[in-house]
Parts: sequence; structure tokens; C-alpha cells
Amino acid sequence: MAGIGRTLHCMLITAVISFTLGAYYQHYDILRQLCYVINDDPYAFHIRDKLYGTLRFFKNNVGRLKANETYSCLPRIMKYGFPGMEDLRVYDDFVISYDRRNRVARWVYEHLQTSSIFNTAGSRRMAEYKADLGIPSDFRVDTTDYKDSGYDKGHLAASGNHKSKQSHCNDTFYLTNIAPQVGEGFNRGCWQKLEAYVRDLCKRYGSVFVCTGPLYLPRKSDTDKWYVEYEVFGPKTIAVPTHYFKVITVESKLPGGLPYMEAYVMPNKELDEKTDLRSFLCDIRVVESASDAYALPASLACDHTLKANTTYISFLKKFFRHFLPFLSNDRVRMRFFLYKRDFPDCAREIRIDDDASIQLSGFNAEHPTRILVHGWLTSSNGSFNRIIKNAYMNLAKMQPNGFTDSNEILSIESEINTNLAGDFNIIIVDWTAIGMNINYFSVVNMIDILGRNLAEFLLYLQFKANLHMLDVYMIGHSMGCHIAGSAGRQLRPQRIHTIFALDPAGPKFRNLNANQRLSESDAVYVEVIHTSDILGIQQDIGHASFYPNFGKGQKNCYKFGCSHGRAYHYFAESLTSELGFWGIKCEKISEHAWILYNEEEEVRMGGEPSMPKNGTFYVKTNDMPPYAVGRMKRTAY
Ligand SMILES: *[C@@H]1O[C@H](CO)[C@@H](O)[C@H](O)[C@H]1NC(C)=O
Ligand SMILES: *[C@@H]1O[C@H](CO)[C@@H](O)[C@H](O)[C@H]1NC(C)=O
Ligand SMILES: *[C@@H]1O[C@H](CO)[C@@H](O)[C@H](O)[C@H]1NC(C)=O
Ligand SMILES: *[C@@H]1O[C@H](CO)[C@@H](O)[C@H](O)[C@H]1NC(C)=O
Ligand SMILES: *[C@@H]1O[C@H](CO)[C@@H](O)[C@H](O)[C@H]1NC(C)=O
Repeated sequence: MAGIGRTLHCMLITAVISFTLGAYYQHYDILRQLCYVINDDPYAFHIRDKLYGTLRFFKNNVGRLKANETYSCLPRIMKYGFPGMEDLRVYDDFVISYDRRNRVARWVYEHLQTSSIFNTAGSRRMAEYKADLGIPSDFRVDTTDYKDSGYDKGHLAASGNHKSKQSHCNDTFYLTNIAPQVGEGFNRGCWQKLEAYVRDLCKRYGSVFVCTGPLYLPRKSDTDKWYVEYEVFGPKTIAVPTHYFKVITVESKLPGGLPYMEAYVMPNKELDEKTDLRSFLCDIRVVESASDAYALPASLACDHTLKANTTYISFLKKFFRHFLPFLSNDRVRMRFFLYKRDFPDCAREIRIDDDASIQLSGFNAEHPTRILVHGWLTSSNGSFNRIIKNAYMNLAKMQPNGFTDSNEILSIESEINTNLAGDFNIIIVDWTAIGMNINYFSVVNMIDILGRNLAEFLLYLQFKANLHMLDVYMIGHSMGCHIAGSAGRQLRPQRIHTIFALDPAGPKFRNLNANQRLSESDAVYVEVIHTSDILGIQQDIGHASFYPNFGKGQKNCYKFGCSHGRAYHYFAESLTSELGFWGIKCEKISEHAWILYNEEEEVRMGGEPSMPKNGTFYVKTNDMPPYAVGRMKRTAY
């Protein structure tokens, strides 16, 4: 019996081994065939992602696919992913997606390095325009087709970006890389300035990715309807784009640093050469929706995300993981993560004393700055940060954007200005290094050290990035309110505009004097929302104090800490709610007795921008989201 068992055992092992080997060789065979297909017919390249999908099981090997020199540039140039997969043409130093219908590329993707720009090996004087015979003749543009069109043969991948070899420079003269551009004031004006700017970025940062392409944008007719209208010329009906775009990705030199991105859109017409390039800046997502290219990399590594939900269990796990003796002060380290409309799910870290991290972060002092300070024992990716950050991102999205009525440069500028107005710098302060310690009273003693960290950060932004203190609001929760207050105190004589204190921590702080806790002198305006009497503070410590549901036991709250956290749900909702939370003046005369003044005046709690108010207010809410009930009905109580 044992012998049979052993034989079966051996057979089984042999079967498994031969199956694995067979699968492995078969996989190599598929890979080899894939290489042949790609080499023979560049148009087959668009199925690459599908083939990759089926081969994901052997993921590591697929990355090494490199049968022919010609395609070895791909992983380098397309590092951030393909904007699209249609009709790809792969040249030695850039990649094109060709639009057969318009006879103009959809997009051209280049990777600029200093070696390809500051080089004399390739020169445009040696090159000639030529048709790309790889394109079927019906869709191919020939050198004669541009004759008498009145347009310049404009390079999408500029020849000056590809000078490391003559053949690279020659490639940019393929007519697939050429698009009709207005000469005077565009191709030889602003567009040229933009190309020079890109090369300058490359000089400074070493590695720049550029995606360039045409746009055919709609325009309003006399009848108030919108039309896409563009000229075509020649027997091949080559399309003349209404605009051109460039999306620029600058790689950070820092280890692990995230790339910085900018997008420009220029109308294809004679422009005043003195126009500031910045006035052509545009939201990357607008370019994406107007072209058929994905310009934003799908999967950038994130410095910080707020996507995952934290659960009660994970809270408990963390609690016990940090059940440690208290740390010494030199471990105090705050980190700062910036979210903006262009990267709503993927923050960029700003480091004090690292100027490049500011430049590359996309921080823009023209946008209002909002600083989020979480509470004790909550993580920087917890629900307070996530919910408020998302509310601000929704607020930013609600602003008008788009290029819909733009064939006029003036209207582009005004579009851009409204875009600017809608965006925020949302900065998340991560002080978990300290805040995760369970020794509450020791953490309380460190409030001023943490506040100094935060104040120094703001001064640094002011010094390096022109931050204006009056554009700053701080939004704190629980102990974060007192940190915000301490930062405000330590910034004096300067003042930030507003502190929104969402249920400031009560234990220990109740008995401290105004210099040791949040107080109304810490900002121009301090608004407090009180939602819990156990964990929160019940004194009026700001200019305006709001007591939703009399400031304790919030509706439908049964878990410990629920009322305490409800404050930030109310605040987040107040940012985007149409109804809003409205309070009426009140006075607390004892633990259970309130006087509600029946004044005509109702004042709004929370919201953007902050509206300075004065006094104590009662607010009624719903027991389920949306919590806002709008203006109150006097008869309700
Ligand atoms: C690579 O492809 C090019 C063009 O398709 C061809 O001329 C060349 O011989 C190929 N090289 C190898 C090593 O297969
Ligand atoms: C570049 O193009 C010119 C003109 O067509 C040609 O004479 C030259 O040999 C080409 N150089 C290379 C390296 O392909
Ligand atoms: C939350 O942040 C901590 C560091 O602060 C990190 O270790 C953890 O992975 C993050 N969790 C999620 C879900 O992103
Ligand atoms: C996170 O929570 C929200 C509501 O609380 C829910 O809609 C969402 O699906 C959750 N996301 C994950 C990844 O669990
Ligand atoms: C706010 O109200 C208090 C008393 O109700 C008053 O002393 C103070 O001057 C008021 N401040 C402002 C700015 O109205």
C-alpha cells in the first residue's frame, strides 16, 4: 500500500512540475510572438495592453520585453503611461499617436534630457521634411500637401529637443510629427517661447516629459449654439487645429519626490508676443476632456492618500500598537501634505528647508490656504482629514471651468482666472508621531512645541512662496484646535484669518487660562463648534460659539466619541450645503437651561469663506446626513 502511495505521490509531483514548465515555456513563446508582431507591424502595438493583461500572471518577465532596439526607448519615454493606444508610431526618441482622419497627430510624447538638448550631434539644417511610409497612403501626408496652405509646418516634437543624434533630429521631420500652425505670432512667437521654456525646465531639472497635441475646441455661433469648426486644406483635407496643448511633467530630483505637472493651451492664431506664458496655463483635466489623451499619469506613487476608511477596529489596533512609554521631544516632527484640485487623491509633501519641495509641489499662494490639524489618537489619513479635504475638493469642482467659449485669448484668460479662484491649497498636518501616544497629559504638555512647528511652517511658506497670512484658515479638531491656537499665538504680531475649531478638546484644557489653550486672540476670527460635553470644551472660547443640539449628545450618536467627531461632519457639510446650518443667539444659564433669543437674525455656522460673527448660538440639525436643516422655523421650539 505504501508503495502505491509513493508512486502516486511521485506522479503528482511530476505532473505539477511539467505543468509549470509547460506553462512557462508557452508563456515565453507568447512573448516571442508578441515581439515579432510588434516589430512587423507597429499598428499592432495598440493591442499591447490587452496582451499584457493576459500575461499579468508572469508580470515580472513582461517588463523585460525588449526584442528590438527600436522599441527600447518606450519604457523610458512612456514611463508615466500611454495617453491613449490608437495608431501608435514609435520613433527612436519620441512616440506619436496618429489621427488618420485629421492627418495630424493626436499627441506626441517626448522625454527631454540634457543630453538631447545641449548637444550638437543633430542639426535641423541637415534634415528634410519627409512622409512616413509606414502610414497607409490614403491617410498619409506628403511634402507637397502643405504648399500654398498659408500655414507653417509646425513641429509637435520640436527638432531642438532631439539633438543627441542626427537620426533623432531627422525623425522629427516626418510629416506625422508636423501640424499646420499659424506662423507669425504663433509658431514663430508664443509657441516658440513655450518650447524654449520647456527646454529651460529641462536645463534646471534634468528630466522633463512633454505631451503635445492639437485641440479642436467648440465655439459659440450667432444662434447661441456651439459648434466645432476648423479649416481643412488640400486634397488630403488636412485639419487645422483651433488650439494646441502641451502637458509638461517635471521629474523631481529628490529621492521619492513626485513629479510636477503643468498644462498649457494656446489658440492657433497670431498672438501678441508679449503675452505672459502663464496666462495660457490651464487645468490638466480640461486638456484631458478636450483631447482624447489621458495626460495625468494613472498611477503616480502618492506621498499621502486619504482613500481608505479607518475603522473602529483599526483605531483599536493602533491604540495598542502605540501603548508605549512616552517619547522624548526630539521625536517631534510634523509633516505637511498638500492636496489641490489637480491632485485631489494624491498629496505632495512639502518639507521645511527643502525649497524644491515647494516649487515642485504646486503650492500656489494665489489660492486660499486651508490647514487641517487632526486630533489626538487619530491618524493623518483618518476620517477628519478625508471628509474635510473631500468637501473642499468638491467645492473646488463646483466652480465653473472649461474652455467652452474660447477662441479669444481674452476669454481664455478669464476662464483661467475663474479656475484659479476655485482652487485651494489644502494642507494636512500630520503630527501622528506624537499624537499617537496614549499618554494624553504628556501630549497636552507638548501643544506649544507642536504649535511652534506649525507656525514655522507658515513662516517658511510666507518667506519662500509668498503666502499671505490673511489667506490662511486653520481647521482643527479636538486637540488639533489647541495646536492651531498655539500656532496662531506664536505667529504674532502676524495673524492668520480664521480658526475653525471643531469641538476643541476639553479634558485638562478646561482649567487652563487663555494663553495655554485656544482663545479668540489666536486669529482674526475664531469660530468654535461644540458638539460634546465629555470630550469637548463647553466654554465660549472664540468670537462665535455654535452649540448644535445644545452642544452635547448629538442625535443618533451611541458610540463613545461619536458626538465629538460629529463636529467635523457638520463643518464639512457646511462647505457645500445649499441649505446651510443656521444658528440663533442663545445663552446658557445652567447645565440644562438655555435661553434662546427670538431674534430675527440667524447666522450661518461654518462655510466658505468665513463670515465673522460674535456671540453664542444654538443650531438645530437632522439626525442623519445631510444634517443641515437650513434656516430654522421659529415655531419649532
Ligand atoms: C528592428 O526593427 C527594425 C525596423 O523594424 C529592423 O530594421 C531591424 O532589423 C530590427 N532589428 C532586429 C535586431 O531585429
Ligand atoms: C538626415 O536627413 C538628411 C536629409 O534627408 C540625410 O541626408 C541624412 O543622411 C540623414 N541622417 C541620418 C543620420 O539619418
Ligand atoms: C495611514 O498613514 C499611516 C502613516 O501615518 C500609514 O502607515 C498607513 O499605511 C496609512 N493607511 C492608509 C490606509 O493609507
Ligand atoms: C468608506 O466609507 C464610505 C461611507 O462611510 C463608503 O461609502 C465607502 O464605500 C467606504 N470606502 C471603502 C473603501 O470602504
Ligand atoms: C462681541 O460681543 C461682546 C459682548 O456681547 C462685545 O463686548 C464685543 O464688543 C463684541 N465684539 C464685536 C467685534 O462686535
